[in-house]
Amino acid sequence: MYIKTLKIKDFRNYEVLDLEFDKKVNIIIGSNAQGKTNLLESIYISSLGRSFRTSKDTDMIRFGAERSIIDLVYNKDLGDMDINIIINKDHKKTVKIDGVKIKKTSQLLDNVYIVIFSPDDLKIVKDEPEKRRKFIDKELCQIRPSYYNNLYNYKKVLLERNTYLKEMYIDPDMMDIWDQQLADYGSKIMIQRNSFINEISDTSREIHKGITNNKEILSLKYDPNIEYNDNQTIQKSIFYKVLKDSFDNDMRMRTTTKGPHKDDIDFFIKTDDNKINVRNFGSQGQQRTAALSLKLAEIDIIKKETGEYPILLLDDVLSELDLERQEYLIKTLSFNQLFITTAEMQEKLMEEFPDASIFRVVKGKVEKKL
Ligand SMILES: Nc1ncnc2c1ncn2[C@@H]1O[C@H](COP(=O)(O)OP(=O)(O)OP(=O)(O)O)[C@@H](O)[C@H]1O
Ligand SMILES: [Mg+2]
Repeated sequence: MYIKTLKIKDFRNYEVLDLEFDKKVNIIIGSNAQGKTNLLESIYISSLGRSFRTSKDTDMIRFGAERSIIDLVYNKDLGDMDINIIINKDHKKTVKIDGVKIKKTSQLLDNVYIVIFSPDDLKIVKDEPEKRRKFIDKELCQIRPSYYNNLYNYKKVLLERNTYLKEMYIDPDMMDIWDQQLADYGSKIMIQRNSFINEISDTSREIHKGITNNKEILSLKYDPNIEYNDNQTIQKSIFYKVLKDSFDNDMRMRTTTKGPHKDDIDFFIKTDDNKINVRNFGSQGQQRTAALSLKLAEIDIIKKETGEYPILLLDDVLSELDLERQEYLIKTLSFNQLFITTAEMQEKLMEEFPDASIFRVVKGKVEKKL
């Protein structure tokens, strides 16, 4: 699967754009603030139906314009597939696959797998827990539609419960309905998270060994906010009881204080000398390398789960890595199609990808170099 063409209208700093891509490697060169990340964003939106850097769709409409239109044509085994996304100022978004309007953006997930890697991803170990939860959620949503539904419902019920907690009078029977539902969706999420984190731990351990010449053993561990049990029925009753026990506190705080919306992931590195929690005791280099291993593991897992390597978007990450890690990344990258942005053309990239298509971006205009 690869992207053949991209047409956009009034998206970010692009007025109009009509590009044809190479089926393997596309290198996008431009100085700061010219539109490199915007271009990747317009591609990314075709996989999850939304951006990786804003939750407000209307942010993507070009200033002063009424709507954004993005049209991508994919080449798939069974022929071409057209994805058309229109974002309107009045917050209405329509997504069409081959001209047919889809009801839920989750329907996009079955069609396209895209992984974006940006400098921020290298901070994931050190960042706040929310960033790590988002990472896990995004991955699981891509590969498990049931997770997408569980998470969607969990968030909906959580919001309702939190709104209700702000009311003057609380009816225990009403509350119980939300507690039941929250415990149900929440326990499913927890079990899926645990198993996925174990899987990604195994995969990233091997990659991490490769990057560190076997000097470090990386492992990831689910750090749930409440007691964990592998059996969903038991997990559900644990969570249900926690909700009851923490009700007084929830009332005081006027929000749901316990549950998987507070989960985290721990990273550990074992060397010949010791085993450390990377967030608290790892060096900056160890934290970044662990993040790199995690990101590369994500690619392998998508391949394992879907049978295909993803389309990979590398947004300026090379400049963030030391030479050794740059080499490793370029040499070991697996992808179906690659889009890579960079401020300046790098010799290493040319050597590794001599047949790449090269694009130059200047102020929202893109020129293909022949
Ligand atoms: N909705 C919008 N309408 C018009 N312009 C926008 C909109 N959103 C962002 N921009 C502009 O797009 C420009 C390019 O942004 P982009 O993030 O793509 O730059 P970049 O080439 O990736 O730069 P860098 O190398 O610094 O990451 C920015 O200057 C920003 O002000
Ligand atoms: Mg950028």
